[in-house]
Amino acid sequence: KTIIKKIDRACIDREILSEAGEILRRGGLVAFPTETVYGLGADALQEEASAKIYAAKGRPSDNPLIVHIAKYEDLKKITKEIPEAAKRLADAFWPGPLTMVFNKSEAVPLGTTGGLSTVAVRMPSDPVALALIEAGGGYVAAPSANTSGRPSPTLAQHVIEDLDGKIDMVIDGGAVNIGLESTIVDMSAEPPTILRPGYINREMIEKVIGPVEIDQALIAPDSGLKPKAPGMKYKHYAPKAELVIVEGPVDQVVEMINRLAEEKQNTGMKVGIIGTEETVAEYRAGIVKSIGSREEEASIAKHLYRILREFDDSDVDFIYTEAFQTPQMGQAIMNRLLKAAGHQIIRI
Ligand code: TXA
Ligand code: MG
Repeated sequence: KTIIKKIDRACIDREILSEAGEILRRGGLVAFPTETVYGLGADALQEEASAKIYAAKGRPSDNPLIVHIAKYEDLKKITKEIPEAAKRLADAFWPGPLTMVFNKSEAVPLGTTGGLSTVAVRMPSDPVALALIEAGGGYVAAPSANTSGRPSPTLAQHVIEDLDGKIDMVIDGGAVNIGLESTIVDMSAEPPTILRPGYINREMIEKVIGPVEIDQALIAPDSGLKPKAPGMKYKHYAPKAELVIVEGPVDQVVEMINRLAEEKQNTGMKVGIIGTEETVAEYRAGIVKSIGSREEEASIAKHLYRILREFDDSDVDFIYTEAFQTPQMGQAIMNRLLKAAGHQIIRI
């Protein structure tokens, strides 16, 4: 049976944390909030504990886990070497939504890294996450706490929907802050390469360490290139309904979506629409949801996965969404949206 504990980020209940830490040390599974999405934690240094994560999520065993730490010094034990550029990125962005890939040391079992000789490491900023990592012994392997193939959880409720009965504990710290998974940068490559876009974008990274590359497979999905982060090749985040993105000048996008939605409705299909505060009132058909405001791009990132889940739980056949090429997180938002849409996009 899964224990569910509510916790207040501003005033962390130490008793809950020590119980959760005890579960991790014994090799059990604890889901916990981070600033990006909820994670499903296990002791990263116990191979059998990591194995339980794969079983609970139904995750392919070649998809490596991110190891979460709470102190920079702890990085030494799990890596072979720490490049100078990684030190600077850690200074600039840790704790925070940045994951770096290093050559791993012997301390990290291959069961945690999906058989790879590298290890992905992140120091999250959420105080509950940091306290849990400390309580659990310092090294917590944690993928997003969803069933493989479902949108990542941004509320404890999403974790419970997917994993209730399959894990030992869920720590409910309320809604996450960012709503999209961390940026991943491979520091074992020369030049360092972005494997997954996130809140920390290319420009922010280049300001600190100079030119970096972006995994070409992310930019050209039809090129047949294999993404360097094994998880990026799976059709993640896919809702049950067919999702289509419409991109272009906003008023034309609204008109096009209205026309497509009405066409589908006339043939008896159920339609969902993802708009923004600025446009929701203009849609004439279907179930319309606002993802957030274009004036505040963080609100769009934060609500994307929840809205995809809500449409998953309704029985819509088609979902039409506006595109969200926002200034800071646009690349990350569109990366997740394009994957969810199986790259179906109409450009006006
Ligand atoms: O924000 C996040 O990063 C969240 C929270 C919980 O910290 N975690 C997360 O984990 O998104 P997950 O497992 O859902 O995604 C990890 C991604 C996968 O695409 C995986 O293939 C990649 O990181 N990855 C892990 N280790 C890697 C490595 N050694 N080399 C390349 N890619 C790696
Ligand atoms: Mg995931």
